[in-house]
Amino acid sequence: MAQGVMLWYDDLLAVLVLSVLVATSSTAANCGRKCGDVRIPYPFGIGVDCAWPGFDVTCNHSFTPPRPYTGNVEIMDISLEAGEMRVYTDVVSNCYTSDNTSEYVTTSSQLDLGTTFLYARSRNEFTAIGCGVIAFLRGRDDASYSTGCITTCASLDEAAHDGDDCTGLGCCQVPSIPPNLDILNISFDPRSIINNLAWKDSPCSYAFVAEQGWYNFSRQDFSRAGSKSFVERGGERSVPTVLDWAIRRNGSCPSTAGQVAPACISAHNYKTFGLWSKSKYSKFN
Ligand SMILES: *[C@@H]1O[C@H](CO)[C@@H](O)[C@H](O)[C@H]1NC(C)=O
Ligand SMILES: *[C@@H]1O[C@H](CO)[C@@H](O)[C@H](O)[C@H]1NC(C)=O
Ligand SMILES: *[C@@H]1O[C@H](CO)[C@@H](O)[C@H](O)[C@H]1NC(C)=O
Ligand SMILES: *[C@@H]1O[C@H](CO)[C@@H](O)[C@H](O)[C@H]1NC(C)=O
Ligand SMILES: *[C@@H]1O[C@H](CO)[C@@H](O)[C@H](O)[C@H]1NC(C)=O
Repeated sequence: MAQGVMLWYDDLLAVLVLSVLVATSSTAANCGRKCGDVRIPYPFGIGVDCAWPGFDVTCNHSFTPPRPYTGNVEIMDISLEAGEMRVYTDVVSNCYTSDNTSEYVTTSSQLDLGTTFLYARSRNEFTAIGCGVIAFLRGRDDASYSTGCITTCASLDEAAHDGDDCTGLGCCQVPSIPPNLDILNISFDPRSIINNLAWKDSPCSYAFVAEQGWYNFSRQDFSRAGSKSFVERGGERSVPTVLDWAIRRNGSCPSTAGQVAPACISAHNYKTFGLWSKSKYSKFN
């Protein structure tokens, strides 16, 4: 009960601070607030002069419409209210060339978010699809977080039906990912190929970390073309993944020249301070 009130109070505070911030920053420097179709609200900004440290975005005009990036990660959208943003992350894939041999299209994919962002707690799920998959998801610098899942289907007919839950028949999921992860590495087990007796009809396997509820299973997704839901970004198959953002320093919300730090406007700010581990803090000191 008490916690519920606290959360509500914090959200209200966030909205109030947000209004103040919008009022003060609109008179600030001449900063574009859109890159292509994506809104770039403060504390994010296009270029370091327009952003809070760590929140600068590069707008790449070689695409039509232009695409915003933080580092080399493409931003899909940013939500100030939720303290979240969605980015495109890679899909790992492998296709069988017989029932017991396969060619990796992408062996593994690792995304290190750096110090500003984290994979959003309970907002993403790990999915692997295919008729013979051992897929791993590892996290942290030392891979001390490690999970994964296995799928089989003796024939295409024995795979789950379109729209079914992912329970291991051609599709498996780890439905939630723990908090405080800034590195995730997706891979297939390179040593053990499960006999894929259905390889002619369903040759390919895919694995990815995407927003919960985004992926809907379809048998057609075992093809070399992959799922229709995958987003093509620069030749890579991608999926939307949700990240948390907040300014993560020890101490309370600082304010400079009367402007409250953007950390205070992120709903994840107080949550993250509570969850932040000692070892994580040391990254900032
Ligand atoms: C924009 O994207 C193109 C194509 O991926 C890439 O070659 C180029 O280096 C990018 N430009 C910037 C400024 O990042
Ligand atoms: C794959 O199966 C074929 C025929 O059953 C067998 O001759 C071959 O040794 C197997 N290859 C591997 C890598 O297990
Ligand atoms: C992901 O982890 C695997 C297994 O630890 C490792 O072999 C691979 O190099 C990592 N991938 C990337 C892209 O770092
Ligand atoms: C999956 O189904 C849900 C509910 O019907 C829908 O909201 C969502 O957009 C679908 N996902 C994709 C990638 O099509
Ligand atoms: C974090 O705390 C340490 C000591 O506890 C202090 O020296 C350092 O300046 C603080 N860093 C920030 C960014 O507040």
